[in-house]
Parts: sequence; C-alpha cells; structure tokens
Amino acid sequence: MGSAAVIAVAGALLLLHLSTIKSEDSALPHLTQKSTGFCTIFVDQNAYNCQEFVVQTEDGFLLGVQRLTARSAAASKGPAFLYHGLFLGGDIWVMNQPSESLAFILADAGYAVWIGNTRTTTFSYGHTSFTQHDQGFWDWCLDELARYDVPAMLKFVYSKSGQKIYYIGYSQGTQAAFAALSQGQQLLDIVEKFVMLAPVAYVNHATTPIGVAAVKLYADKILMALHINFFTFRSKTGRQLVDYICASMNMRCYGETISLLTGDNCCINATRRAFYDKYELQATSTKNLRHLAQQFRTGTFSQYDYGWWGNMQRYGSFNAPDYKLSHIPSNIKMMLIAAEKDSLATPPDVQHLLNELSYRPTFMSIPNYAHLDFVVGINANVDAYAKAMSFFQSQ
Ligand SMILES: *[C@@H]1O[C@H](CO)[C@@H](O)[C@H](O)[C@H]1NC(C)=O
Repeated sequence: MGSAAVIAVAGALLLLHLSTIKSEDSALPHLTQKSTGFCTIFVDQNAYNCQEFVVQTEDGFLLGVQRLTARSAAASKGPAFLYHGLFLGGDIWVMNQPSESLAFILADAGYAVWIGNTRTTTFSYGHTSFTQHDQGFWDWCLDELARYDVPAMLKFVYSKSGQKIYYIGYSQGTQAAFAALSQGQQLLDIVEKFVMLAPVAYVNHATTPIGVAAVKLYADKILMALHINFFTFRSKTGRQLVDYICASMNMRCYGETISLLTGDNCCINATRRAFYDKYELQATSTKNLRHLAQQFRTGTFSQYDYGWWGNMQRYGSFNAPDYKLSHIPSNIKMMLIAAEKDSLATPPDVQHLLNELSYRPTFMSIPNYAHLDFVVGINANVDAYAKAMSFFQSQ
C-alpha cells in the first residue's frame, strides 16, 4: 500500500476505535469557578500581593485575570500582561521558583503583573450561560481569542491601571495578538510594547511528531465528527487517541509526550516534573485544534474554515479570510524571541512571519531552546526574560 492509503486506513481505524469510547464527562477539566485558586496555590502571599479578577467577554466567557505585585518593590514600571499558550493556563508563568518564573521576576523588577487566562482553562471561571457540558462552551478557536479574549483582558487591565501595557505573549498567546492586531483591534492605544516568545502566525513547517501525525490521520476531523468537543491529554479518550497516533506512526511516545509535542527542550527541571504535571497540560477545544490543523494543511494564517457554504454565510466569501500581518501598523514596538529547536514555532515559519510584517521588529533566536524552555526553562530568566525587560526599558 502507498503511504496515503496506509494513513487513510489508520484514520478510519481511529474513527472506529474512538467511536467505541464513550465521551467521558467525568474526565472534564476541573474549572475553579471560585476566586481563590490561583493566588493561594501558586503565590507566596508574604512576598507578593495577589488579586483575582473576573473579566467578561462580549460572548459571555468569564476569564480569570490575576494581578501580582511584589511586597518589596513599588510597581512603578507600569502594567505587564502575560498571555499563555495552547494547552496551558496563566499558571505556567508561576510554575518555577520566584527567581526563574517570569511573573515573579517582573513583579520583583517593579511591574504590576497581570496574568491572562484563556476561556475554558483551569483558572478561568466558565461562562454566563454555558457549562462545560455544553457544546457552546467549546465552540471557539483562535478567532474568538483574537476578537474577544485579548481585547477584553487588555481593556480591563488598562482601565484598572490607566497606563499603557507591556505585553508578553507565548505561542498561541502571540498568535492571538497577531490576529487581533492584523484585524485592526485598537490595541496600540493601550499597549506600549509587545514581546512575542515562540512567535506563531504560520504553522505549516511544524515538525512536532504528535501534531503532524494527528493532522495526517485527520484526528481533528474525527473528534469533530464524533462530537467530542474538547481535547485533553488527561482524559481516557485523550490518552487513547495519543497512544493510537503513536502506534500507527510507529513512534515511541511513552513518557515522551512533551518533547514529541514541543521539540527537545534543553533546560527543564526534571525533578519538578510531577508538579508541572499536576496543572499542565490543560484542555482545549477540538475546534481550536482543528483550526490549527487547517492552518497546517493550507500554510495560511487565516480564520476558521467553515467550508464554502459556512464561509459564505459567515464571511461573505468561499474561503476563510487571511489575517493580514501587513495590516499591523508599522509604528508598533515589538520584539520577537524565537528558538532554533522549536518544533511548533519553527525557524522557517518564524521567518515567514517576519517577511509578512511591514516593520522590522527587534529579533533574536535562542540556539538551544525548544518550545517549552520559554516558560519553564530554568535559565529563561537570563536567556529570554532579561532581554524582554531591557527591550521594555529601552527608548
Ligand atoms: C528543580 O526542582 C526541584 C524540585 O522542585 C527544586 O528543589 C530545585 O531547586 C529545582 N532546581 C532549579 C535549578 O530550579
């Protein structure tokens, strides 16, 4: 058999295999839905002030936003806003020791640190009318993050602080900002500078073995066809899906899920693994993954493809419109920090992104880093965060 046929058969078997698993509500991610979780779990309140806020989006999601300041330092440098990536929550910024975690480092340096949490992640607060058992709760992708979550959180931070914001995004937290900016969301009036860690717009050169295999097997379409509205590595369905993908592609995934997703991270503290595993990886919507798979297949940075009929109704065109990076105003102040071993924000895709921008951002690439080193690397404080802070303070 040709490899296309092998893949088609493997995909069909996957469909059968998953359709026999009952979608398990018991494995749904735990949503805090209360105002204490984040600050009490992750923050030493003797050293930091930590406050919880709930920000409602125009489409009814209740996002968790936390504000951190150091008790030892006045927050004189203004607000910094941190936006996490796919399968993570805002807690990824406080996972390491204070000297290694970006949120604490910024607070110690005199920023008022605001931590964003995407809809449906662990430290958000749900929705005004949907529960996590409703399809509507999971009916979102990057488009909604760009249209609702990013503007809602930034406007909230600006309204509370009255000062322009220093934005630090990571992975999907950069892609959402690029999408929002290219659609003319009025963010430049409220954001002073952007730092994009592991910057993502295009994803078609991604080499992440699990991701590429999942796309080849049409796992995204299959999950949708089975009305499995969300995906998490923590559920039985999620684990069986990953096992199946690995077995079909002859990959040894046992214990290696993270590096097979992100590339070979150089600098993650293995002794801390159990602590990370308690909170990450978090659930995301199947639609969000499907949108990524569409972008991988087409090589475009565009809105969700609803098929020609759905696109016509929604967008007035047969194709889903592109996010036009060239529309981002050229007076924006932005730094991109990429990683050479990143299998998600790969060097060729980062280059493509740079080529599409109408301005020349400050740019650096870290040779030995892969995707996760940016958020939990033990030396990211020196390799990346110090660089971001000097960019913020530069004229
Ligand atoms: C690695 O994690 C362990 C367990 O949390 C911790 O005791 C140790 O200090 C960490 N090492 C570094 C370099 O952060």
